[in-house]
Amino acid sequence: MKKSNILVTGGLGFIGSHTVVELIEDGYIPVIVDNLNNSELSVLTGIEKITKIKPIFYNLNILNTNILEEIIIQHQIDCVIHFAAHKAVGESVENPLEYYYNNVSGLISLLKAMEKCNVKKIIFSSSCTVYGQASQLPVTENNPILKAESPYGNTKKICEEILTDVAKTGKLKVVSLRYFNPAGAHKSAFIGELPKGIPNNLIPFITQTAAGIRHSLTIFGDDYNTLDGTCIRDYIHVTDLAKAHVKSINFINSNESEIEVFNIGTGKGSTVLEIVKAFEKENSIKLNYKIGNRRSGDIEKIWADCKKANTLLNWKAQLTIENIVKDAWKWQNQLI
Ligand code: WQD
Repeated sequence: MKKSNILVTGGLGFIGSHTVVELIEDGYIPVIVDNLNNSELSVLTGIEKITKIKPIFYNLNILNTNILEEIIIQHQIDCVIHFAAHKAVGESVENPLEYYYNNVSGLISLLKAMEKCNVKKIIFSSSCTVYGQASQLPVTENNPILKAESPYGNTKKICEEILTDVAKTGKLKVVSLRYFNPAGAHKSAFIGELPKGIPNNLIPFITQTAAGIRHSLTIFGDDYNTLDGTCIRDYIHVTDLAKAHVKSINFINSNESEIEVFNIGTGKGSTVLEIVKAFEKENSIKLNYKIGNRRSGDIEKIWADCKKANTLLNWKAQLTIENIVKDAWKWQNQLI
């Protein structure tokens, strides 16, 4: 049975492209809008190599509300998955206005276009950053939302509040997915993470160090109150994360609630050193790293309680840290 047309904003990005692959493989028809601010046109070829289908793509900034409306109408969009946003924590501290304009005004533009075209379902890309340093671990969706540590985190918090208020009017159904730490790459190595410039995130910095692009990895602090002194995060394979979005469409189509929030992680925390050791072991590589000072804004530890997603979305992460470090390295190796 032909499934519905799904608008995917930011669909050529890291998580967006992996979600487009899973949508196609599940029979949906994705329509991508992406302004290529943090992605490349070559990702479209990667998606086609995996799925044998070249998705519909518009090079568009979602702040162009009128063109968004035309695309929604032309493709009879049934549901929207919204990824398009800036996401670098450090960059948001240096340029907060650009982050509020792009991330918050971008969502408002999208919601206005959806309202005009009577599209009532949205799946939103949120983040565990809204929890800050939780006092109770693992974090559940009922954990308090603490003051954001960065303008980026604050834009996620503000966007969730906007979505909640609009959902309360009864004119919109919302699923907000709070990602933990997305990492890895598609098993084919045809798509993966394409960090711009020096990677902020741990896994791409590890793979670029192993590839000789970076001289060495600096581990930001080993004096935290953890097993080995390094920070703990819940690293989730990007393919597992992508599948959670497809499950969310099934949920939003069959559930009456106005807004539901889900933690999307593995439920398991890993220290930075554990990730480094797993990378070395799985890829038989000795990584050049040193211990440096703590990075400001880093929280000590966080990992997810995903019971709500496991039951209500019928979704559970299947892939492991070993899959993450192997797939990330395979992807790095095929990059020129
Ligand atoms: C992970 C750990 C660092 C780089 C990210 C995004 C955030 C959100 C969650 C989506 C930390 C350490 C890192 C390095 C290191 N994603 N590290 N050396 O900060 O948890 O947050 O994922 O919404 O937007 O920023 O991820 O990969 O930057 O850091 O030691 O060169 O690795 O200190 O403990 P983070 P990260």
